[in-house]
Amino acid sequence: MRIDVVTIFPEYFGPLDLSLIGKARASGLLEVGVHDLRTWTHDVHRTVDDSPYGGGPGMVMRPEPWGEALDALVAGGRGEPAGGAPGGGVRLVVPTPAGEVFTQAMAHDLAAEQRLIFACGRYEGIDQRVLDHAATRMPVTEVSLGDYVLFGGEVAVLVMCEAIVRLLPGVLGNADSLAEESHAHGVLESPVYTKPPEWRGHPVPEILRSGDHGRIARWRRDQALLRTARRRPDLLAALDPGTLDKRDVAL
Ligand code: ADE
Repeated sequence: MRIDVVTIFPEYFGPLDLSLIGKARASGLLEVGVHDLRTWTHDVHRTVDDSPYGGGPGMVMRPEPWGEALDALVAGGRGEPAGGAPGGGVRLVVPTPAGEVFTQAMAHDLAAEQRLIFACGRYEGIDQRVLDHAATRMPVTEVSLGDYVLFGGEVAVLVMCEAIVRLLPGVLGNADSLAEESHAHGVLESPVYTKPPEWRGHPVPEILRSGDHGRIARWRRDQALLRTARRRPDLLAALDPGTLDKRDVAL
């Protein structure tokens, strides 16, 4: 997979060199390009924003630098790969609090793409025509991390990249951790423990030390369902009844 990020703050993306994302890049599973939007401005002040039509507070990102940035990335300018036919295999992702909410299912969909371009807005957002024009040549998805407002899209892109890249085949050493984790089956993960068996007066639940794998699996499932019921009743309500077994329903 190739990910390109366009931002006025390239420094935000230092963490993409670290940890498992850094390793995925080093091993060739992932290519990342981080681009400063201001390289596509042509005035001495390298202006990227202006006041909103119709009035109102704040500033809006002007369309021209965004248009040139996307042209260059889609066409394979600036030493970037062309990604096949113009627009072929590329999806534009725009973080915004006005987008659809990012979920694990969306992370899976995005992880299946060959190329992603993330456009980080600042201020009150990007002129809508940038997205409308881009949508004539590639799929465009506006995504919100949740019901709160950040300064801009940069941190949201880091979050999405981490969720997406860990799903790419070969990135996680142990693929089982993907199958077990919270949200994989629409329920939260059960609590986890390691040594020592007792710590500050708190013992590890006896059953986990019993060696009885059937009972352990049942206990973990119960804990996961109880947690989900208490913390995320919305997830429990949305569970496909087909994924429940008779003993689950007894809860
Ligand atoms: N930009 C500002 N707030 C955001 C949010 N909640 N999600 C995604 N992008 C954002």
